[in-house]
Amino acid sequence: MGIVGIGGMGGHHIKLLLDRKIRRAKLAAVCDLNAEFLARYPDVAPFTDVREMCRSGLIDAVIIATPHYAHTPVALQAFKCGMHVLSEKPLAVHKADAEKMIKACPRHRKFAVMMQMRMSPTFRKVKEIVDAGELGRIMRVNMMATHWYRTNKYYALGGWRATWKGEGGGVLINQCPHDLDMLQWICGMPTRIHAHCGFGKWHKLEVEDEATAFLEYANGATGVFIASTAEAPGTRRFEIAGEHGKVLIENNQLRFLRNDVSALKFIKTSKRAFAAPKTRDVTVSVRGQDKGHAGIIQNFVDSILDGVPLIAPAREAINQVELTNAMIYSGATGTPVDLPLSGRTYKRFLDDLISGRIKP
Ligand SMILES: NC(=O)c1ccc[n+]([C@@H]2O[C@H](COP(=O)([O-])OP(=O)(O)OC[C@H]3O[C@@H](n4cnc5c(N)ncnc54)[C@H](O)[C@@H]3O)[C@@H](O)[C@H]2O)c1
Repeated sequence: MGIVGIGGMGGHHIKLLLDRKIRRAKLAAVCDLNAEFLARYPDVAPFTDVREMCRSGLIDAVIIATPHYAHTPVALQAFKCGMHVLSEKPLAVHKADAEKMIKACPRHRKFAVMMQMRMSPTFRKVKEIVDAGELGRIMRVNMMATHWYRTNKYYALGGWRATWKGEGGGVLINQCPHDLDMLQWICGMPTRIHAHCGFGKWHKLEVEDEATAFLEYANGATGVFIASTAEAPGTRRFEIAGEHGKVLIENNQLRFLRNDVSALKFIKTSKRAFAAPKTRDVTVSVRGQDKGHAGIIQNFVDSILDGVPLIAPAREAINQVELTNAMIYSGATGTPVDLPLSGRTYKRFLDDLISGRIKP
């Protein structure tokens, strides 16, 4: 395994490998543009050039933990050399780059994304409940991700964060990819998004530090997604309402309220004006430990060696990129966006944000 980008997150993945937390994988190379960082790992082959690392014959797979814009060129280079790739989130800054990466992945090579919330036993349980049809027809979803509080000092640390040019957005692209992945993994993709974003509303920033999006789904369901880096105390809450009841995750606690009869049938059949279906608080057992990042890396390794399915394949992670792009586009233009979003159109729009031709 070779790791590209050995700052905060790359350093964390390196530690997992060096501490032997990942079975059947060995850290054989590290790569960073900053040669000083490489000296931290004297027993691992150092590279400042991705191509050289991939051609060294030392590695079979690459973990990308660089700033967002570099995910695409690094992955393309790695695929050219026949590597398997696990990219940090977001898969790419925009949909066009994500599509390019997925297309470049050779057959028989694995391409995964670090969507580690898919390892959470609580979220896995909710997905199980929804996929099994236990809620029946989904009517409404509500996700609040306002627990990402950040100060001006955080943003003033500078570097690549919180600019159009450096990372391609704010709270939606940096903090929310995991939340948005859960939203689409469990509830599917909406067909239309109308978002209101605050661009530098609470911090000294050009990108969004607040977003409220209204979502419409093909089956008639609606949703609201709210994110902020300015709210304290913040809220992390996910609620899905269906005809047979409601599931709610708050503070990682899962609650399942099940209706005795379908709420939609009850509307039609009840003889009483103010009656509602009886509801039971169902005890749901959530088993297992959240293996987080280590779980996704282990699954990547097991998929390469044994062919087990990827838990977070790139072809699914592109949905999160599309949601982020659509919310920023809608928020900046004040218009609703129909999905699928055109990757090319968004790329042109983002170029205009970067150059300052468009100021939201
Ligand atoms: N999954 C998670 O929970 C999680 C958490 C935090 C960050 N991340 C993601 O991890 C990635 C890195 O974030 P970070 O906080 O570690 O950033 P960072 O700035 O701490 O580290 C990035 C490193 O990449 C290096 N780099 C930049 N361009 C490069 C290139 N072309 N080739 C090689 N090295 C290059 C930099 O020198 C730096 O050392 C981002 O995509 C971020 O969104 C994921």
